[in-house]
Amino acid sequence: MDLERIRKDFPILKTKVNGNDLVYLDNAATSQKPKLVIDSLVDYYENYNSNVHRGVHTLSVKATNEYEKSRSKVREFINADKDEEIIYTRNASESLNIIAYTWGSRNVNKDDDIFITPFEHHSNIVPWQELCKNKKANLKYIPLTESGDVDLDKFKSMIGTKTKLISITHMSNVLGTLLPVKEIINIANSTPAVTVIDACQSVPHMPVDVKDLDCDFLCFSGHKMLGPTGIGVLYGKFDILNEMPPFLFGGDMISEVTYEDAKWNDLPYKFEAGTPNIADAIGLGFACDYLKNIGMENVWNHEIEIGEYIFSKFKSLDNFEVLGEKSKEKRGGVVSFSHNKVHPHDIGSGLDQFGVAIRTGHHCAMPLVRSYGIVAASRASVYIYNTKEEIDIFINRLLEVEEYFK
Ligand SMILES: Cc1ncc(COP(=O)(O)O)c(C=O)c1O
Repeated sequence: MDLERIRKDFPILKTKVNGNDLVYLDNAATSQKPKLVIDSLVDYYENYNSNVHRGVHTLSVKATNEYEKSRSKVREFINADKDEEIIYTRNASESLNIIAYTWGSRNVNKDDDIFITPFEHHSNIVPWQELCKNKKANLKYIPLTESGDVDLDKFKSMIGTKTKLISITHMSNVLGTLLPVKEIINIANSTPAVTVIDACQSVPHMPVDVKDLDCDFLCFSGHKMLGPTGIGVLYGKFDILNEMPPFLFGGDMISEVTYEDAKWNDLPYKFEAGTPNIADAIGLGFACDYLKNIGMENVWNHEIEIGEYIFSKFKSLDNFEVLGEKSKEKRGGVVSFSHNKVHPHDIGSGLDQFGVAIRTGHHCAMPLVRSYGIVAASRASVYIYNTKEEIDIFINRLLEVEEYFK
């Protein structure tokens, strides 16, 4: 990977923050955008801004073609079978909510079980909590072994005909831990339960193949994978999506309307009511092009290397504790840490004075962070443009911040 060339593609990396070169290590929250993606948004608004699926005029036809071309790029990116299996949403949170509201309301009943893991982001907890409350169903957690791994044997013994849905994160946004999603899906596929993968932290960083995973649903956000904000993806197997009722009602999601009734449009439009986020969907297609061009294996290997470098630096630091998985085979480029005296918010704002952007807080995973006996942690998360030199700056500045607050 030509890191120097890659960095030149991201205009924001030239920004100074508080007089220092920006060191951006908050990629798990959102990634930066390459010029190719930014230009695609400008191109749409400057040259063919128009609504899709409606007009017969030149601009509308071009907008429709570009919007649908982007869907095909996303389909190819995750190796789905059909374009119809790619539903555009606002973000992963909305994708997960669609499953809970539509599939869930139709298929989950009193005393049924839904399983998630203790590693989940709030977006993969709260929709299931609400569904279970409404349906008087049970939200259960896949147990962990003493070493903190998913306990597959115990999980096997807990599932059965009452298990309706299993929703798991592919990679924890707090710990960087990779979950054994394939094994969990294999176990789940021996029951009638559907499987949902929260791929927010995996699709942007590693090769993800929905056919190989054999999951029923997979959700992710464009803004974490070099794409614009406001565009997310719900992948679902065709037959399952086809059976599901719509989520929102209105224009574009219908095939016929009378004063009394309506018939639903075909997939994927049944789930895309109203004017969609055209520009950002097109931008996401360009983000897929960019990542594909680098190669997702290369992206992943680079991030593992930088993640490993951060871990090796923390090993020699007193007073800091890294949370979670230490083995590089089991985690990606996300490192959360705490200090025995200095509060994460002081660490975050101290680093910001030096132009280093990290995330501090509960990372939208309160139960997981609290399970470590803390209410907040600091997190550095990497992407394709981060370098070892930036990690050196981060660590040196971290030590200065520590010294100041001590
Ligand atoms: C693992 C995981 N799931 C879900 C989400 C929610 O993503 P969004 O806020 O884009 O809906 C995030 C965002 O941080 C995440 O990291």
